[in-house]
Amino acid sequence: MKVRTAIIGGSGVYDPAILSELKMVTVRTPYGEVKIDVGKFKGRTIAFLARHGKGHELPPHKINYRANIAALKIVGVEDIFATAAVGSMNSSFGLGHIVLADSFLDFTKMREMTFYGGGESGVVHTDFTEPYCPGLRRIIEKAAKELNFAVHNGGTYVCTEGPRFESKAEIEFFKMVGGDIVGMTNVPEVILAREAGMCYAVCALVTNYAAGISEQPLTHGEVLDVMRENAEKVKKLLYYSLDSLTEKSDCSCFNSGEKLCFEGKVIEG
Ligand code: HPA
Repeated sequence: MKVRTAIIGGSGVYDPAILSELKMVTVRTPYGEVKIDVGKFKGRTIAFLARHGKGHELPPHKINYRANIAALKIVGVEDIFATAAVGSMNSSFGLGHIVLADSFLDFTKMREMTFYGGGESGVVHTDFTEPYCPGLRRIIEKAAKELNFAVHNGGTYVCTEGPRFESKAEIEFFKMVGGDIVGMTNVPEVILAREAGMCYAVCALVTNYAAGISEQPLTHGEVLDVMRENAEKVKKLLYYSLDSLTEKSDCSCFNSGEKLCFEGKVIEG
């Protein structure tokens, strides 16, 4: 099985509706088993993975990021389009806007962060000057502009450990150090994708203003409601972006990574 492209659906994006001829595949990885949907989009084979599980049962700190990325690598994925719900700390990034992050600040605390834990895997330091693929970002930006969606190509994603939302003081600090949007899932997902030499971009949808900027206390329900209202928009954006994904983009994502190979097994059905 060779699947070049994957979608990782975040909050509110749980079903691979834009794909046809769907089948479920179980991938055994060194980090655990992962179920992914594989389907067709205009003749191409695409994988879909619901980051929080199909019923949103996994909180951000319990997601098995290493198994997810290893599973996608095992089925042959080179390009990952991820979606995520985020809070905004930047007054230009309004509700419902799409932000294509170009960098991150990591404030997570207790996650498995790397495929290179020493020992057999050796000591490896991967370049993260540009963590998000500029080629994929350009494709998504172009699609969003054609669709008349408010899109920002660039922005710093602050990743917090969660599952709680942030304090007002934390948000003030994150703003001060250059954060634009805040979420709980992009680290280590983007890190592992790069370590595995894959192109990765995230379509971050602004569901709320971050704590202290919004006047009301934040609720997960509010985030999910806004995400649900915008789910069609995100799916349409993915649809248009996949449509214009042709040959490999001119980027160095593959060469910055270490071309990792994982022992794995793909079980269809
Ligand atoms: N903070 C952290 N994660 C989030 C937010 C937020 O404000 N909105 C959506 N995910």
